[in-house]
Amino acid sequence: MRISVIGCGYLGAVHAACMAKLGHDVVGIDIDDGKISELAASRAPFFEPGLKELLGEVQETGRLSFTTDMAAAAGSTVHFICVGTPQKKGENGADLTFVDSAVNALLPYLSANDLVVGKSTVPVGTAARLATTVQQSAPAAYLLWNPEFLREGHAVSDTLHPDRLVYGVTDGSEDHPAVQVLDQVYATSLQGGTPRLVTDLPTAELVKTAANSFLATKISFINAMAELCDAAGADVTLLADAIGMDDRIGRKFLNAGIGFGGGCLPKDIRAFMARAGELGADQALTFLREVDAINMRRRTRVVELARELCGGSLLGQRITVMGAAFKPESDDVRDSPALSIAAQLQLQGAVVTVTDPKALANAARRFPELHYEESTDAALQGADALLLLTEWREYRDLDPHETLKQVSGARILDGRNVLDIDKWRAAGWIYRGLGRP
Ligand code: UGA
Repeated sequence: MRISVIGCGYLGAVHAACMAKLGHDVVGIDIDDGKISELAASRAPFFEPGLKELLGEVQETGRLSFTTDMAAAAGSTVHFICVGTPQKKGENGADLTFVDSAVNALLPYLSANDLVVGKSTVPVGTAARLATTVQQSAPAAYLLWNPEFLREGHAVSDTLHPDRLVYGVTDGSEDHPAVQVLDQVYATSLQGGTPRLVTDLPTAELVKTAANSFLATKISFINAMAELCDAAGADVTLLADAIGMDDRIGRKFLNAGIGFGGGCLPKDIRAFMARAGELGADQALTFLREVDAINMRRRTRVVELARELCGGSLLGQRITVMGAAFKPESDDVRDSPALSIAAQLQLQGAVVTVTDPKALANAARRFPELHYEESTDAALQGADALLLLTEWREYRDLDPHETLKQVSGARILDGRNVLDIDKWRAAGWIYRGLGRP
């Protein structure tokens, strides 16, 4: 099948490569020249495990190309809209500029029976509005919403082996003619047993924002428990293990720490609240304000704990922050709690060095005033305190005895609760976790 993928960021670049891997002829289109020339040369413009190899593999087959020219979408049967929907500046709502302009730019190239398939996360109601736009310009084409659930760091496998596929179609019916076409696109996954649900447009849009809101709520719930554990002298990691053994609760996404960040959960819960307000249903989502507040409080809490760890003052303390990405296996620093904590510490007088295996270039663009060090060894040298803020494998595997030889002060704050307390304390470290005694 011929497919165009419009928007080649974290979502679209992976989607384009995976669709080609599944055997389709794919063109990836983006307005960003730099991104397109990198992708065309089989280089991933961001770090995502497996993407570089996949790009090389599929480009050799001749089934994947990249361009900035929207005219290349002509002749494709399915057009995936994969552009970003960032938070509006100074407001909670989502900025739909990129979605609107992608769809408008595509309109002249649509033919009868083409599918325009939205994958971007959008406020409920957007798809119906875009369906009207498509209908007016290309009456025989179809607009669908097919939300994407991939996680950064696992994007390739999540796209090739999704948990579920959701197709939102205008009449919500299995018999909608576009359903069969999308089934052909995803034939490999469907044959592999991936469940597929057909819904109406608003339900499909809501599935995505509801899923991300649930995940954010789960993280803030356990972080609220961490606050209580701190107050009561209990251990939130054991509490999470114990409640997680109840199937109805489950252990995943119950890791207390510095909270969630990234380009999705924070802006999605805010956009969801803003949209609920527009729909007159704001009361339904006021709890998300609390979810957001608990999450932001984590960052302040870590700064306070770091101050305590440094004996009451941050002034002149050499602090090494391990991790800048919002999560491991990613170079994404959008709304990264690790970086925002590093910046706060620096503002309050600490001398901060940030290290990360992949995200330093992006971090330096966002916070040029921080000091960055690529080598973990060099970053550890002479530190008065260490903060583990993104749980990359190499930080989890640090040997407390070896690390002790490199630093000036044996103090560590484990912002992700991933280190073995007993091992670090036995090696002579002052260890602080979040919600751990
Ligand atoms: C999230 C969703 O998990 C995906 O399903 C969704 O497709 C994606 O957003 C999106 O909307 O595009 P992602 O932002 O890649 O994916 O990252 P997550 O794995 O969800 O992690 C989000 C944040 O929560 C990270 O900062 C992570 O460190 C934090 N987290 C996660 C915790 O603090 N504790 C946990 O137990 C789990």
